[in-house]
Amino acid sequence: MADPKKLFIKTYGCQMNVYDSERMAEALGASGYVTTERAEDADMILLNTCHIREKAAEKVYSELGRFKPLKTANPDLKIGVAGCVAQAEGEEIMRRQPLVDLVVGPQTYHRLPAMEAVVQAGGRAVDTDFPEEDKFEHLPKAPRAKRAPAAFLTVQEGCDKFCAFCVVPYTRGAEVSRPVARVLREARDLVERGVREITLLGQNVNAYHGEGPEGTWGLARLIRELAKIDGLARIRFTTSHPNDMEDDLIAAHGDEPKLMPYLHLPVQSGSDRILKAMARKHTAESYIRLIERLRAARPDLLLSGDFIVGFPGESDQDFEDTMALVREVGYGQAYSFKYSARPGTPAAEKTPVPDDVASDRLQRLQALLTEQQRAAQAAMVGRDVSVLFEKAGRLPGQMVGKSDYLHAVHVTDPRAEAGQIARVRIIASGPNSLAGELV
Ligand code: SAH
Ligand code: SF4
Ligand code: F3S
Repeated sequence: MADPKKLFIKTYGCQMNVYDSERMAEALGASGYVTTERAEDADMILLNTCHIREKAAEKVYSELGRFKPLKTANPDLKIGVAGCVAQAEGEEIMRRQPLVDLVVGPQTYHRLPAMEAVVQAGGRAVDTDFPEEDKFEHLPKAPRAKRAPAAFLTVQEGCDKFCAFCVVPYTRGAEVSRPVARVLREARDLVERGVREITLLGQNVNAYHGEGPEGTWGLARLIRELAKIDGLARIRFTTSHPNDMEDDLIAAHGDEPKLMPYLHLPVQSGSDRILKAMARKHTAESYIRLIERLRAARPDLLLSGDFIVGFPGESDQDFEDTMALVREVGYGQAYSFKYSARPGTPAAEKTPVPDDVASDRLQRLQALLTEQQRAAQAAMVGRDVSVLFEKAGRLPGQMVGKSDYLHAVHVTDPRAEAGQIARVRIIASGPNSLAGELV
């Protein structure tokens, strides 16, 4: 038998892209590909791209340039662009980069095997449709390999919110929820293959409204049903929108033990004026009230968020309002970005904040968020947490895992093994992780 062809996938962007890359590898697995960690060895290179900020999108073109010598050395090498840049700039990528053989959007990658056949025959293929059929149902059957202890599972995709700055509604399309039975089937399959923690994914995951027995199910009901799966120990979900936090989902944080005490709930700004201009459809106050309700349900909930500074029109006072909101909420972890004008979005038409002003604000916000993150981590020292060990660490005998609060935790102990959930006493806090010992 011929050697299997080798596939190298590089993934940018959000967790959904990580999930999609796994699905694409499986789809091409059915066409005889195995994955490789080395681009030099590949018969096919796929870049799974992100369009969220200008820098992320530009990376694709510089990365493609770097592959040029590989294609010169191996003219049979096929190069593909997938993901959100592919969706947004498909035809332009083909024009700008002749070495690209294939462009596939986030909603059509179940068609990869057919596209692969086209490029093998010497053609070029572009598919950035938003098809009627459910891609998940049309993916070639995956080989049932053992899985790492923590996995992602997409339950909802796309977004109908149209925040004024954001490309996601254009690159991922309209909100779609996968039916309950299919989610449960995929979850059971993951657990049979060794998974103990599942993170449910969606651009707006808490807007989930999947078809289930007796009508439409919300995310809370789905989580409660998933929690009944023996062997599944932990459930998380991301990313949520403040306006879709239904009562039962808040309650689940208090009464569903498998739902982990960590919530990523982006607010973007603490200024009502800017929130309005962003078309977020919530206020700083309503967000803070929501956090209070969540903390009433689960007092030790660790909060994470996303922030944009330098949105068009943001004044010093608006920015100070964001700083005030961060001080009031107290985040255990957060992501903050300088506003990036994205073609086709309403905000891109507005006059930008001067770059040095935005940079200065970003620096101040990040200093505050880092301080909060360090304090939250330091507060873990001396506490016992549960840790799911995922893989060997860099030091001999070391295992790395995640606490219930999603902190990375290192333990050096021969008894610690991947897939195990153990009680761990935290003994030290580093910049990005904690150290602990088995209790
Ligand atoms: N669906 C999620 C997040 C989507 S994108 C939500 O609604 O919160 C992830 C983060 O990227 C956003 O939360 C936002 O903080 C940031 N982001 C999106 N568009 C951006 C832009 N044009 N410039 C800078 N940051 C942006
Ligand atoms: Fe983008 Fe807003 Fe949708 Fe989140 S809710 S994906 S920020 S449009
Ligand atoms: Fe980026 Fe697309 Fe995710 S734009 S953040 S890869 S949904």
